[in-house]
Amino acid sequence: MQTLKFANDDRMPILGLGTWKSAPGEVGRAVREAIRIGYRHIDCAAIYGNEAEIGTALEEAVSSGLVRRDELWITSKLWNNAHATEQVGTALQRTLQDLRLDYLDLYLIHWPVACRPDVSFPTRAEHFLSLEEAPLAATWTGMEVCVQKGLARHIGVSNFGVGNLAEISSSAVIRPEMNQIELHPYLQQNDMLTYCRQHGIHLTAYSPLGSFDRPAVLKKAGELNLLGNPTVAGIAKAHGCSPAQVLLRWSIERGTAVIPKSTNPVRLAENFQSLELRLSDREMAELAKLDCHFRYVHGEFWTLKGSPYSLEELWK
Ligand code: A2P
Repeated sequence: MQTLKFANDDRMPILGLGTWKSAPGEVGRAVREAIRIGYRHIDCAAIYGNEAEIGTALEEAVSSGLVRRDELWITSKLWNNAHATEQVGTALQRTLQDLRLDYLDLYLIHWPVACRPDVSFPTRAEHFLSLEEAPLAATWTGMEVCVQKGLARHIGVSNFGVGNLAEISSSAVIRPEMNQIELHPYLQQNDMLTYCRQHGIHLTAYSPLGSFDRPAVLKKAGELNLLGNPTVAGIAKAHGCSPAQVLLRWSIERGTAVIPKSTNPVRLAENFQSLELRLSDREMAELAKLDCHFRYVHGEFWTLKGSPYSLEELWK
């Protein structure tokens, strides 16, 4: 499989399995089936609430000889309530215990947003910690300690704008190697792509299919339908493939990793097949015209009344 190469020559498979919204009771089966199909990269996070079931599936896959641990690339993410330097390692230990692993290939700060340790999802202004109270540089120091201890091979961030990336990079001993962000033809983030190419930072595209299965609170009336877009449908028809495969291949053609979520065996296989597709320059140019800076994961849940965060600062 095509890979993204890191500075130490480690290689991340460009297509991974997303596990956000994969329900307990389903996610373990999906992970096992994905590995059987050939997926070698699984994207996880503590806040998804399903790492223990994924851990059981990973352990079974390795102990049955289906795959070796060193053939897998496992990513997870630090949740917002453990941003203090000394909390980072504890949070990672918990994730490793749940995933039944000795190390992660990649650990990411999930959001440039902090909340109190006793709060899992902020619902009131007083649940938040501002970036003055919980500076991202201090969180990053905790991430670096995880690398020094051998608990994470690589570290990075998620949902960071260029401003936040530049800020932590300026004081970093180990520079961030990944930013995982929402990316698809409606949200192409070309400035971010350019910045990351210039600074040796890889990108991973989340919500590449538009995350239709997001909880209702994260949806807005009249949202654009990415899978139903006529340009995408036309390119799919020309190749005799599905719109999902076109969307996934668009990410791969741009040199970004992509992590579609599915718990359905047919769609898991379909998504994996996007590795075989090739899009022409003309088709990529047609897809480039679809950019309308539209976010499905808009981040408004961090900017409720009285919160120290604003959307402008978040995505700057
Ligand atoms: P399911 O898990 O039932 O397959 P995203 O990766 O952007 O978060 O999107 C995930 C959503 O897209 C889920 O609802 C998932 O449903 C659906 N999905 C995954 N693969 C495909 C596909 N190949 N075609 C259509 N829908 C898909």
